[in-house]
Amino acid sequence: MNAVLDPAGPQAAHIAELWWVTLAVCALVFVAVLAVLAWGLWRAPRGDPQMVPGARPAPGAEKHLIRWVTAATVISTILLSGLLVASVATDRELAQLPLTDALNVRVRAHQWWWEVTYDDPQPERMFATANELRIPVGRPVLVTLDSGDVIHSFWVPRLHGKKDLIPGRTATIQLRADKAGEYHGPCAEYCGLQHAFMAFEVIALPPEQFETWAEAQRKPAADPEDAAARRGRELFLSGSCMLCHAIHGTTANARTAPDLTHIASRTRLGAGRLANTPQDLAAWIADPQKFKPGVNMPAHLLPDDDLKALVAYLGMLK
Ligand code: CUA
Repeated sequence: MNAVLDPAGPQAAHIAELWWVTLAVCALVFVAVLAVLAWGLWRAPRGDPQMVPGARPAPGAEKHLIRWVTAATVISTILLSGLLVASVATDRELAQLPLTDALNVRVRAHQWWWEVTYDDPQPERMFATANELRIPVGRPVLVTLDSGDVIHSFWVPRLHGKKDLIPGRTATIQLRADKAGEYHGPCAEYCGLQHAFMAFEVIALPPEQFETWAEAQRKPAADPEDAAARRGRELFLSGSCMLCHAIHGTTANARTAPDLTHIASRTRLGAGRLANTPQDLAAWIADPQKFKPGVNMPAHLLPDDDLKALVAYLGMLK
């Protein structure tokens, strides 16, 4: 994936540097081996009666061979040790990202979505979202990772390497985006049927824009303004939706599925499976299994008007 070689932050840059060093050394060794092979073939004795099978080479040739083998062993050892040192140095650099004023985000992986919680010393300022990580440009982010079911792997190639999320264990990863933009993250560890459709986006925003967004996320859900949205909220709170989802500011506060308080502010649905448009949202609610077979959300056989009302309500949760 060429994204790895287009780093947007210091962590990915360290890894890209290591990759280039390894490539250069391996390319050099490859060319050297081919050159020696070509030279050997060119110089090989042809039709020499002394070189019949089983015949011992002349004593001088044996010494010559030992010298070559020794030289090759020494050079290989030096190069491999060099790569080992480079790898350890990269690891050290990755661990040394300054974390003053770091943003603390917890990411919990589920089959098959990402639960994202923004920590804050003041609990009422915490908020949750899903399948999307918005971060401020230039500020370090300390991501704490764990998993609710099987092993997943957090990977944003343009920002950092992979880190496994293991049930019952907490891992951390430090990253920083130095350029504003959208960085794609695929799950990098096979975790079940929908592994390929378990994606998230990291959206790096200028700090002021990030603060505006975070402030909006901290607010409870907006109240519906029209009849359709009101009916949608009623359906949401009286039906099965609230058994799994939370919408702050309402009675829905379940945590087994994505928090929908501000679902309309997200770019994608179903962990990157669909666009967040009214059409796709309606199609998703009606039959999630069609898009992600095996997902926990069941199909909803709603009358057309009810489905429209539900989409109208969720569509205004900006
Ligand atoms: Cu989660 Cu693959």
